[in-house]
Amino acid sequence: MGKPLIAGNWKMHGTAESARNLATQLGHHRFQEDAAEIVVFPPLVHLSVVRDVLADSSVSIGAQNVSRFPNGAYTGEVSAEMLLDQGCKYVLVGHSERRAILGESDQIVAEKFRAAQNAGLIPILCVGESLQQRQQDATFDVVAKQISAVIDLVGLEKVCQSVIAYEPVWAIGTGETASPEQAQDVHTVIRAQLGEAGRSTTLLYGGSVNKSNAAELFKQPDINGGLVGGASLEADEFLKIAQLVEA
Ligand code: PGA
Repeated sequence: MGKPLIAGNWKMHGTAESARNLATQLGHHRFQEDAAEIVVFPPLVHLSVVRDVLADSSVSIGAQNVSRFPNGAYTGEVSAEMLLDQGCKYVLVGHSERRAILGESDQIVAEKFRAAQNAGLIPILCVGESLQQRQQDATFDVVAKQISAVIDLVGLEKVCQSVIAYEPVWAIGTGETASPEQAQDVHTVIRAQLGEAGRSTTLLYGGSVNKSNAAELFKQPDINGGLVGGASLEADEFLKIAQLVEA
């Protein structure tokens, strides 16, 4: 198993100044470098500010979105190569907000995944079921289908080289977390879908992770870290969460 990963998704929050302040607080912290990898996902326009602040720290940066096209006349889009050029190591693909609000289909998510990986970025593929789908007992099928769409396009090996974040939609930004058992159950199914090639693939849990619930989640055998939204906007809270995975 690789190092655990703690990812902070800042979503569409903050100014350049608040991004600089938050990054500065994280940059001052001395993480136990072997224990966990820490990565933050600022809004695109603040990437270079955050990159410069964190240049001498062990915190990596990533982007929240990427174009599925390599380059060309795609007004408003940002390519994987541009993100790499900005110092990004990771990129989120298939976040439920992009799937549900911005209309990204499984096919588009798979193409973004491929574009990111071809350029040398590590995609964090987000998957998860809605409340209705959970109530209909469709959770495992929904997650498997979201992952299969990417496997169909790039192959299993490539998916196993990425990071997969299980984020139940009903737990994102709601304060309601999946129980450690619920999360582990889905992670078991994901691990099984990846098979032998995915034994050491990093699997994250996301959805209202905070300093009070993180320890129990991170103790689960197939949860290798967290994708943290709201709680990543407060340096103290995010650092506490990171320390829990380091512990
Ligand atoms: P949340 O967001 O921690 O605020 O629930 C998680 C995410 O959307 O990645």
